[in-house]
Amino acid sequence: MKIAVPKATLEGERRVSLVPETCTRLKKLGLDVLIEAGAGYSAGFPDEEYEAVGARVVGSAEALFGETDLLVQVHPPTETDLSRIRPGTTLFAILNPLTRHDLVRRLAQQNVTSLAMDMMPRISRAQKMDVLSSQSTVAGYKAVLLAAVEIGKMFPLLMTAAGTITPVKVLVLGAGVAGLQAIATARRLGAVVEAFDVRPAVKEQVQSLGAKFVEVEAPAEDAEDKGGYAKEMSEAYKQRQKEAIARHVKEADVAISTALIPGKPAPVLITTEMVSAMRPGSVVIDLAAEAGGNCELTRPDERVEHRGVLILGPRNLPATIPYHASQMYSRNIASFLQDLVKAGELKLSMEDECVAGTLITQNGQIVHPRIKELIGA
Ligand code: NAI
Repeated sequence: MKIAVPKATLEGERRVSLVPETCTRLKKLGLDVLIEAGAGYSAGFPDEEYEAVGARVVGSAEALFGETDLLVQVHPPTETDLSRIRPGTTLFAILNPLTRHDLVRRLAQQNVTSLAMDMMPRISRAQKMDVLSSQSTVAGYKAVLLAAVEIGKMFPLLMTAAGTITPVKVLVLGAGVAGLQAIATARRLGAVVEAFDVRPAVKEQVQSLGAKFVEVEAPAEDAEDKGGYAKEMSEAYKQRQKEAIARHVKEADVAISTALIPGKPAPVLITTEMVSAMRPGSVVIDLAAEAGGNCELTRPDERVEHRGVLILGPRNLPATIPYHASQMYSRNIASFLQDLVKAGELKLSMEDECVAGTLITQNGQIVHPRIKELIGA
C-alpha cells in the first residue's frame, strides 16, 4: 500500500504530516511512502532527508493524490484537497467532525474513508496517538512566549543595581494539556502563576508545577464526563466562578485561556468588564478562539486592543512551531498505523476502540454513531 504526504494547502499551515524519522517506521510495516516535493520545507525537513530513508518524492500534488491509497494530513482537507482526493482513498487528518458537518458529508459523498485523529479516545493505550495532546503541548508553550514578546515587562524577579524588578503574574484558565504546559513554561521564565479549572482533579497537577490553584467556593461536583473532559456547568456555579475569576484577572499581567468543551462553544470566562479592570499593557492570549473564545473580546487571528489591554486569539499556534509539532504529530500517526497495518495492508476493525472512536466515514456512509446523530444522517 502507498501512503502519501501532501504539501499543506491551508493558509498559514507550516506543519508536515510525516517527518523522515517516521517514514522509516512505516516502511518497516510494508508501506511505500510518497511525499510531495517540498512538503517538509516549511517545517524544516528537506526532500533529501525523506529520500535518504527510502520515501519517493513526487513532483505534483495531482500525481501524488492520483496514486496513493492512504493520505495523511495535519489540517482538515481544504477545497483544493477535496478536488484532488480519489474515491476509495483512506484519509488520516484532524477533521473537527463535531462541528465540521459540511466536511463530513463531503467525505462520505466522495467515498473517502476518513479517520479523525482529533477523535482519538482518551484512554491510556491511545496516549501515544493523541494529536490533541501533542499539539496542545506546543500551543500552551507558544502562548507564553507570545505573551512574553508582547508585554512591556520582563517575566522573572530580577535584583539589579537599579532596584528590584517584580515578576510578572500569569493567570491560566483551563488546566488541561495546553494549560499545564503554559503553567510550566511561564514558571520556567520566572513568572508567578495562578491557574483555574472546573475539574477539581487538576488542583494537584497545577500545584506540582509550582502554581497556585484558584479556588471557587463550593467546587463543581461532577465536572467531568467519563472521557475526562469538562462538562457544561450550572448557572449558579458559573456565577461563583465569574466572581472568582474577576478578582484574579484584575491582578494578572498575562491571562492565558484554554478552556474548551468538546463540540460546544467555548465558555466565556473573561468578560469585557474584566478586561476593562486589567492594567493597560496587560495581555490576554485566548487559545479557545476557534471555538468562539474564552474572552468576550477575542477575534480569531486578530489583534484587539481594549483600554490598552491586548487580546490575541491565534487559531493555529502549533503551526508556528512546525518542526516539533510535525515530529509529534507524525509519531502519533505512526503509532496508530503500527496497530492498524498488518503485512502491508490496512485493517480497520470496529472492535478496536481507537478505530471505533476515529472512523467517521466509510463506503460512502457516515459510520460514527455520535457524528451521524449530530448530522441527522
Ligand atoms: P480541553 O482542551 O478539552 O479543555 C482544556 C481545559 O479547559 C480542560 O482542563 C477543561 O477541564 C477546562 N475547562 C473547560 N471548561 C472550563 C471552564 N468553564 N472553566 C475553566 N476551565 C474549563 O482539555 P484537554 O487538555 O484535551 O484534556 C481533557 C482531559 O483529557 C483531561 O482530563 C486530560 O488529562 C485528559 N487526557 C487524557 C489523555 C489520554 O488518556 N489519552 C490524553 C490527553 C488528555
